[in-house]
Amino acid sequence: MNKTEAEIYASLPKAAYVLHEDKLIKNLELIKRVKDEAGISIILALKGFSMWKMFPLVHDYLDGATASSLYEAKLIHEEMGCKAHTYCAAYTDYDFDELASISEHMVFNSVGQYLHFKKKLKSEYPDVSCGLRVNPGFSKVEVDMYNPTAPGSRLGIDASHLIDGLPEGIDGIHFHALCESSSYDLEETLAVFEQKFGHLLPHVKWVNMGGGHLMTRKGYDTDHLIKVLKNFKEKYNVNIILEPGSAIAWQTGDLVSNIIDIVENHGIKTIMTDVSFTAHMPDTLEMPYRPDIAGTTDEINDHRYRIGGTSCLSGDFMYEYNFDFEPRIGDQIIFRDMIHYTVVKTTMFNGVNHPDIYLLKKDGTLDCMRNFTYNDYKKRMN
Ligand SMILES: Cc1ncc(COP(=O)(O)O)c(C=O)c1O
Repeated sequence: MNKTEAEIYASLPKAAYVLHEDKLIKNLELIKRVKDEAGISIILALKGFSMWKMFPLVHDYLDGATASSLYEAKLIHEEMGCKAHTYCAAYTDYDFDELASISEHMVFNSVGQYLHFKKKLKSEYPDVSCGLRVNPGFSKVEVDMYNPTAPGSRLGIDASHLIDGLPEGIDGIHFHALCESSSYDLEETLAVFEQKFGHLLPHVKWVNMGGGHLMTRKGYDTDHLIKVLKNFKEKYNVNIILEPGSAIAWQTGDLVSNIIDIVENHGIKTIMTDVSFTAHMPDTLEMPYRPDIAGTTDEINDHRYRIGGTSCLSGDFMYEYNFDFEPRIGDQIIFRDMIHYTVVKTTMFNGVNHPDIYLLKKDGTLDCMRNFTYNDYKKRMN
């Protein structure tokens, strides 16, 4: 008989992120369908999902990956076996050669940066296809922290700098203005993009529409996305590239933690866990958002507890959740959807033990992909 999720999780020796292989494959299948039907390229944004042991699987479905730094590009080159599509907010002279040697596309955040490296690119890396990141100055994203188009944003070139056209040698244009967005948000953004940068489109081979296309979210209108992309491609005769991160690992796994203690002060009961919001789920405090916890309800009931992180940071907790059961020391607390971005962004702040990383394979068995120890903490310091 197949084991239940609870039975499988019960066998974990300590806190762990658990990626479900079947859920990842389901997402990749959907994304590949969009890619094939729209006739575009879709690549993985490493900032959202960098579990490189899964890269060969990802590469079976997607066209490659995009890097924002030398280390991401190296990981793509080493573990996906292809060159990166690279965009850095600012390229440094000391990283540039290594980066150029393992990149097939390089996108520049300013005309000045492109001109600074142009001669070197032409003479030493003539196969690198160069692009500029532009800023449409329009976004449907309401949270400033995730809106790269806010006034004065440092990300992307304002239309006023490109009125007279593109510098010689530029093959493509990149924009990134979405975050967990719909195809209708993309459609609106494209209308502004065309209005401001349409005069450049006859002169480029490719347009990279960045990330934020959350096509694997329930209810996302993939048919509409395909239509929008096809229309754009036909109208301008360009190759289209999308580089989602979240969509790849959306809802593909959990952070499983344990109840270590339960404390009560001033009538407020707090479950003390062996994980930390600031170290292991930083977006919950940074964005911020309230993570979904298995076995909880919106109805206020008698099983009402705050969830405490294991660091000493006062704010390392979540306000009250109502459980369907009476939580006890030794029970597990399961935080849903903790794979995309979360795993990439963790720290070892406070020396808190880092959750292990497991793969729950299609056959129902657990594979420990990474076990963290004291040495991981020690080595980061000096
Ligand atoms: C330039 C760029 N591309 C792609 C992405 C991936 O976005 P998402 O994970 O929302 O799809 C980001 C996210 O910040 C980004 O800045």
